[in-house]
Amino acid sequence: MIFRAPRLAAALLALAAVLAAPAAAAQNWTTIDVLYVPTPYDVVDEMLRMARVGKGDVLYDLGSGDGRIPIAAAKQYGIHATGIDIDPERIREAEGNASAAGVDALVRFRQEDLFETDFRDATVVTLYLQPHLNLRLRSRLWTELRPGTRIVSHQFDMGDWAPEKKWEKAGHRVYLWTVPDSGRPPAR
Ligand SMILES: C[S@@+](CC[C@H](N)C(=O)[O-])C[C@H]1O[C@@H](n2cnc3c(N)ncnc32)[C@H](O)[C@@H]1O
Repeated sequence: MIFRAPRLAAALLALAAVLAAPAAAAQNWTTIDVLYVPTPYDVVDEMLRMARVGKGDVLYDLGSGDGRIPIAAAKQYGIHATGIDIDPERIREAEGNASAAGVDALVRFRQEDLFETDFRDATVVTLYLQPHLNLRLRSRLWTELRPGTRIVSHQFDMGDWAPEKKWEKAGHRVYLWTVPDSGRPPAR
């Protein structure tokens, strides 16, 4: 069977979700919900562009892997960015990558569970998780983030929370939402 690269990435993510729980147990982590599959750099650039990242923004990547999204945000836009990852190895890798990129002063990484971490000061949130994890996170995004905060997700949507924009290229998708002024956002 021939897999195109994005399909292979999606298949790897699905496999990762299945493998994640036993892997976490073996490593004695509390919860790892999806294993590491990186967003391609051109898709990272598109996520930041769609989120209209600019001066004064504070970006959080929930499940930050090797740190490429916070690092790109700091390097390209000069903003403060935080990566949250449950895996200590990913945090070490991300910190090394931030140093190598010369953005230590703007970027920090925290080894925490994204479902428990405090991200209330975010003005931009980036995600590359799984559909059910986006849905699990959704009510916190609505209630804890300030109105106007942009959320971009690589590959997976938010159920009946209609995205404002969708970008697609070579099988990769990026969705954009903005936290509304109040109340539950309109369904599709
Ligand atoms: C698919 S990767 C995405 C990495 C990065 N955001 C990117 O787009 O390149 C998902 C990441 O989420 C992390 N992760 C999984 N469950 C988590 C949890 N409960 N809390 C924090 N991080 C988690 C994994 O360790 C992995 O690095």
